[in-house]
Amino acid sequence: MPETAPAASAIASPEADITAALGTRSIVLVGMMGAGKSTIGRRLSARLRLPFLDADTEIEAAAGMSIPDIFETHGEPHFRDGEARVIARLLDGGPVVLATGGGAFMREDTRARIGDKAVSIWLKADADIIMKRVKRRADRPLLQTPDPAATVGRLIEQREPVYRNADITIWSRDVPHEKIVDECIDALHARLRGSDTKEASNTLNATP
Ligand code: S3P
Repeated sequence: MPETAPAASAIASPEADITAALGTRSIVLVGMMGAGKSTIGRRLSARLRLPFLDADTEIEAAAGMSIPDIFETHGEPHFRDGEARVIARLLDGGPVVLATGGGAFMREDTRARIGDKAVSIWLKADADIIMKRVKRRADRPLLQTPDPAATVGRLIEQREPVYRNADITIWSRDVPHEKIVDECIDALHARLRGSDTKEASNTLNATP
């Protein structure tokens, strides 16, 4: 009989345990612009052998225009409604690893949907790291202000109490990406091991 490689889920590993425990639930990355949601999400999806989706990219595809153009033409409330609809649709197609835009988790219905259909990871980043990273791109409409650093500070203050409701918190800092991914895997494994429920409390990898 020819030898066949066992399916990923049949190989004992933290990654296989995680995908088995997830079932159809997704992993959703939340947090500020520049926290590394897409970069870490893409690598995490490769480790877990799950598809990676970026909500911002999906919103742009659905609207047929860029995020700055959506903000300029239709305004932020229109963008937020589209964002909520797109995330709801993507969560119905799980399991995936989904990177959300920084404002998505602020919406109560989106948070509830993520709570039902996913395990959420808050990538928590300090203001100076965020500023360093967002300076590389000029396509964030919320940061087109006279003082982007002050805007980031204000958004952090408004949003962190809400991001804190994510299932897992991972401190996103200037270390190799694979280290952050390892910490996500460890935290997901600890949370999901032996249980397909979400009764465990928020897991934090490290503190500054
Ligand atoms: C936003 C973050 C952006 C994008 C939009 C609004 C926000 O996504 O959704 O510009 O409200 O923080 P990233 O967090 O991927 O930059």
